Amino acid sequence: MLVLGIESSCDETGVALYNTDHGLRSHALFSQISMHAEYGGVVPELASRDHVRRVIPLIRQVMTDAGVSREDIDGVAYTAGPGLMGALMVGAMVGRSLAFAWQKPAVAVHHMEGHLLAPMLEDNPPAFPFVALLVSGGHTQLVQVKGLGQYELLGESLDDAAGEAFDKTAKLLGLPYPGGPELARMAEQGTPGRFRFTSPMIDRPGMDFSFSGLKTAVRHAVTRLDREPTAEDKADIALAFQSAVVRALMIKCRRALDHTGYDTLLVAGGVSANTALRVALDDMVKERQARVYYPGLAFCTDNGAMIAYAGAQRLLAGETQAPAVTLKARWPLVELTEPGAAA
Ligand code: KG4
Ligand code: ZN
Repeated sequence: MLVLGIESSCDETGVALYNTDHGLRSHALFSQISMHAEYGGVVPELASRDHVRRVIPLIRQVMTDAGVSREDIDGVAYTAGPGLMGALMVGAMVGRSLAFAWQKPAVAVHHMEGHLLAPMLEDNPPAFPFVALLVSGGHTQLVQVKGLGQYELLGESLDDAAGEAFDKTAKLLGLPYPGGPELARMAEQGTPGRFRFTSPMIDRPGMDFSFSGLKTAVRHAVTRLDREPTAEDKADIALAFQSAVVRALMIKCRRALDHTGYDTLLVAGGVSANTALRVALDDMVKERQARVYYPGLAFCTDNGAMIAYAGAQRLLAGETQAPAVTLKARWPLVELTEPGAAA
């Protein structure tokens, strides 16, 4: 089965073709980062308008790259939430319209289910069940995953998401938008031990997170310097901040493995690209003879491949959906169910 996937929930237009027998056939992405950079964050109306400009050319491109025509496509998957409503609308309308014109099924995909399944695009993918750590710009969640659509929330951030904390801290340090990857790069130059921030919530039971206090601790550290931070100050602070976040994530992942008795951990979402996080989790699972799986670097942040993959799995499992467009700006992952037929 060959599925066209369209992602347009935020500031990236992603399109891909996934074949359930042969894997990913082609994918293309247009990032709006440079457009939003001058505003220091995503401007929703600009995002929607740019998705309109990009989506059709990208669809043409992936079809040409894969050498397929419309007759070869068995279904269309699009992101239906969570995300920016206007941005979601673009991908959904184009996806539904193409499916209608081509007389093929369309399937609405949950953006975070897309992220969660992204490691399945790699060679030697993990098998159910597993613990998933979802770390993106909008979400930080630990999920017990028993199968497709069988998600139980083990813990989540009570305030900022991990990616959001990276971005806000980067802004505090005067790094350009989007700060997460910039801050991580800066941390590589940092001297360990000069600054120390306590990892939030690790002394409390449970698997919830909190990152907003850390951002405040960084602000205080900058104030205490009593001068414009130098590049060296910034690198040292970045390293201390990143270490505190990584430690909190690692400890809660370990608790989640203990709690479920599972020996497989999966990490996905933008922050799963972070090298320090990968090193810490690799070490943690090695100690307990468990395994950890990540998406390829191109599929950590938003992309069309994960949406094509998630949609293909649901279509393959027999899911059918009513021919209506229902979008949700907010949509808890745990509301999803196993693939099924539309009411
Ligand atoms: O999954 P994603 O593309 O978008 C959402 O669904 O939110 O995640 C984007 C987030 C941003 O906050 C970005 O700063 C963060 O992922 N991010 C990183 C790294 N690469 C992306 N954070 C830390 N280290 C990185 N290498
Ligand atoms: Zn995302």
